[in-house]
Amino acid sequence: MKNVLAIYPGTFDPVTNGHLDLIERGAKIFDRLVVSILRNLDKDPLFTIDERAEMLREVTRPWPNVEIDVFSGLLVDYARLREANVILRGIRAVSDYEYELQMAMMNRKLNPQVETVFMMPAVAYSYLSSRLVREIAQLGASITSFVPPLVEERLRAKIL
Ligand code: PNS
Repeated sequence: MKNVLAIYPGTFDPVTNGHLDLIERGAKIFDRLVVSILRNLDKDPLFTIDERAEMLREVTRPWPNVEIDVFSGLLVDYARLREANVILRGIRAVSDYEYELQMAMMNRKLNPQVETVFMMPAVAYSYLSSRLVREIAQLGASITSFVPPLVEERLRAKIL
């Protein structure tokens, strides 16, 4: 495959070091990587879409082939629109697998042109999630080793 455009979709509320680990791995093997934030009207996020996009733009600055975007509706429709060949998803542990497999199979059924590629983050991030980061930050624990300094700053400001 030549000139592979991969989409890394997610909620990113907020971006963690686990996401960044995956972005770094993805940026190495794909020609272009579009990190796409889902505009999900059902969820009640801590950070607005604009705040999440801005943080992502800042922390992905080191990778010139990484772009930040927002999407709504079906991921496969968005992938078609962007002419993407790949959907990138991270699998941290076996517990992620079932849900991810279900999504990958459904997405393949909906759009066989797009291939889902799974990557594993470093073991150090295998238990990390945005939800846990939000929770422990709100309860006063240090999040220094889980998120980039900018995100820590924004989380603190949001919570206090
Ligand atoms: O970071 P998350 O919350 O695990 O990301 C989930 C996401 C955004 C990848 C998933 O909810 C999604 O793709 N939503 C878009 C709507 C869609 O296409 N649904 C059908 C999935 S088979």
